[in-house]
Formats: sequence, C-alpha cells, structure tokens
Amino acid sequence: MSGTVVVGAQWGDEGKGKLVDVFAANADFVVRYQGGANAGHTLVVNGIKTVLHLVPSGILHPETTCLVTSGVVVDVIGILNEINALKANGHLQNPKQLLISDLATAILPYHKAFDAAREAALSDEKIGTTGRGIGPAYEDRASRLAILVGDLYDRDTLKKKLEMGLREKNFLLEHYYKVPTFKVDDIMSQLEQVAKDLAPYRCRDTSSVINKALKTGKRVLFEGAQGTMLDILHGTYPYVTSSSTLAGSACTGAGIGPTHIQKVIGVFKAYTTRVGSGPFPTELADEVGKKIQMDGNEFGSTTGRSRRCGWLDLVALKYAIRVNGITNLALMKLDVLSGHERVGICTGYKLNGEMLTDLPPNSYELERVEPVIEYLPGWKEDISKLTTLKDLPRATTNYIDYIGTQLGTPIDVISIGPGRDQTLWVKPLFTN
Ligand code: GDP
Ligand code: IMO
Ligand code: MG
Repeated sequence: MSGTVVVGAQWGDEGKGKLVDVFAANADFVVRYQGGANAGHTLVVNGIKTVLHLVPSGILHPETTCLVTSGVVVDVIGILNEINALKANGHLQNPKQLLISDLATAILPYHKAFDAAREAALSDEKIGTTGRGIGPAYEDRASRLAILVGDLYDRDTLKKKLEMGLREKNFLLEHYYKVPTFKVDDIMSQLEQVAKDLAPYRCRDTSSVINKALKTGKRVLFEGAQGTMLDILHGTYPYVTSSSTLAGSACTGAGIGPTHIQKVIGVFKAYTTRVGSGPFPTELADEVGKKIQMDGNEFGSTTGRSRRCGWLDLVALKYAIRVNGITNLALMKLDVLSGHERVGICTGYKLNGEMLTDLPPNSYELERVEPVIEYLPGWKEDISKLTTLKDLPRATTNYIDYIGTQLGTPIDVISIGPGRDQTLWVKPLFTN
C-alpha cells in the first residue's frame, strides 16, 4: 500500500509538474484526479520543455502508467492534440501507458463558449478563468446533464444526452448571452472521429486498476492540479476553480479509500504567485514584484497571462498544511529569489487592528488584511547549478530553516531550476 499525493499548497503553478516528473521515475502509476486543461504542468528534461494540461506528468517515463480518472473534466479534443504532440516527440509510443476513464466528464466546445460568455457578462467582476470550460463542465456533472467520456463510444446514448443537454444551453446562449448556439448533429459528427482516436486509451474502470495496484504494493502517485487556495470549498471563494483541489479529492476523484494515502507532499514556491482575480495578501505591485515575475518567468503555462507575484505567505501555507494534511514539503524555485537585498516572509495578518495568525476563510476579509512581513538577508549567488545542499549560501539556508521552523513540517525537497536534475534532496521522498 503506497499512495502519495502531490498537492499545490498555494494558488497553483507551484511546480507540481516538475516534481511529479522527478518522482515518476520511481512510480508505477501517476494519476490525475481533478481539474482539467486549466492545468499547465511544465516538465523540462535535458533542456526540452513539455507542457501538459490533461495527460499526467509521469508520461515521459515509458514504464509508468498514467491515468486520467473520473474526477477529471476532459477536453476530449484537447487531450488528443496533447497525445499527438507527445507521440510526435517520441513519447507515448505504447497506448497502454495512458488510461482515460469512461466516468470522466467530457468538456465539449459549448462548455468553453459558456465559460467565455459568462466571463464577458461578469465584466469587472470576472473570475479570470482559463477559458477551458471547467466551471460549465462541473456544473453539468452536478446537474446530471454531463456527457461522460464513455458516452462517446455509444452513439445512441450520446445523441440522446446531447439533445437533452443542449436544449437548455442553446436557450441561454441565444437569449441571455446572445452568442452562437450549437447543433447536435455538428457535435455528433465531430465526436465520431474523436471516439475512434480515444479508443486505444479507453478504460472502463480506473478505480479498479488503481485499487488493484495499491493492494499489490505498487507505487501510486496522485498528481494534484491547481492549488489549495483555488479549492471550491476551502479556497478564496468565489475566486476559485470549480473542483476540489485538496489532497482529499485524490480519494473521491480516483475512487480509492483514504486509508490508501500514506503521504501528502505539499508543493510551494519560495514566493507566492496568483493568476486571475481574487485576494492576494502579499502581492507586490512594485519593482520587487516585477523582478520576481521576470526572474521566475511567471507567465501562465496555459494562457500566457502574467502571474501576480508577492512574498511567501506562511499564514496561507499553514492553512494549506492543515486542510490537506500535508506530511512533507517541497520548496520550489528557490533560485528565483537570488539578487534581492532582503527577502520577505509573511508571518501574520492585521485586520481591524487585530493580529491574525490563521487565515480568515472569508475572501472579503482576506481582501482587507494587511500582511505582517519579516525580512531576512537576501543572497546574490546563482544557486541554480549547485549539486549539493551544503553549497547553498548561508543566507539561503537561513531562509529555508526559518520557513521549516515556522511551518513545523519537514521540507524534504528543494528545487533550484526547472530541469529534472536541478533538484536537491534533503530526504528521499519517493524512491525505490
Ligand atoms: P505547475 O502547474 O505546478 O506544474 O507549475 P507550472 O509548470 O505552471 O509553473 C512552474 C514553472 O516554473 C514552470 O515553467 C517550470 O518549468 C518552472 N520551474 C519549476 N521548478 C523550478 C525551479 O525550481 N526553478 C525555476 N527557475 N523554475 C522552476
Ligand atoms: P495548475 O495545475 C494557476 C485559476 C484561474 C482562475 C481560477 C478559475 O497549472 O497549477 P478555471 O479556468 O479553473 O475556471 O479558473 O483558477 N487557475 C489556475 N491558476 N494554476 C492552475 O493550474 C490553474 N487552474 C485554474 O486563473 O483564477
Ligand atoms: Mg501550472
């Protein structure tokens, strides 16, 4: 029994993809359990960059099986583009390497149209979604109008469900949003080829595959998408995504019991970023924030939007440790902080003159807090080429130690660059 969850401990883009690719060298299975193509997970191997949106980040390891399970919303056309790009680059040569659940929710072109129309209608109040149809697809699932990936293989069921689902949607698109509608026949003909192309990856029951694997002692890595603060229930609502991004969602999304999870690895950057709207207490709207953005190349892997940047927020991180049950931490992008006179760490918030050390779960309060920042001496050295921890400059280790002590959770991995090899291990976390 060896289930490990990798979960984003901030607002997404923490470096989950890199870490999962590194861990996957020792994993039998890598499992996506929630979210969709709103995720952009970047892997850099021998200088070659691969950005994955739906295919799990274990795919560059030919011996590792990757599963897209029931909790995921699958852009069925988008995932084929991703599969084809991987194949063209010499990966995914054996279709058995990727299994896509029949029970996953299909994202179709009308979900994206809805996403865009709703954002446009919200105007100044918009969430700043990735435009990938995520919210509308999860809404369909909850309202029992979703097309499941398995429906694509049964034309009669597909037609019936599309007719039922599109009736209400077309009405809203035409009369409320005043944008073009969709025809069942057009979608049916588009999906005919999609079903044929997806068939080699079809899996009727990914839960059964994973449970068998866990029972026979295989190593299963659950790859979270987005981050804790974007969780639909525990994030900065309404500025969140539409799925549960927490570690617990690995169980419901993949169909396993919580007793199978042994470790929860929380991934966080040495600073904080956020894409889209919503509260961000440590945001730096100045030259320092700009420097972090440029040095960290903080531009979205999915949409190319610039990411807002700020100092590390320990209040939010402590909250992430609590709501996910994080057992170990991975500190990413430490190299990006080189070249600052001093580095800031948020240790508390002030709200109405009162000092808070716990995150106020209400977004409107979080919007009004003032961060309490402590400063530590910075470092000038380029640390991205180091190969051992003991070569880290003193100021850098002080920064790591300070964070570790404050969080009371071991930091077991330190990442100093996007490449697989730019990883310093404090303690082997996911090995043979
Ligand atoms: P994810 O969504 O959590 O997988 O993260 P993204 O891939 O969206 O964003 C992380 C970005 O940082 C990617 O461009 C990675 O290649 C890059 N990256 C990951 N770890 C490091 C690191 O330690 N240092 C630097 N400089 N870049 C990193
Ligand atoms: P990874 O897995 C960062 C954000 C969007 C927006 C909000 C809702 O790469 O870390 P959605 O399209 O999900 O309805 O958008 O969530 N968001 C992400 N931010 N990383 C992601 O994924 C994200 N996925 C969604 O920017 O604010
Ligand atoms: Mg990302």
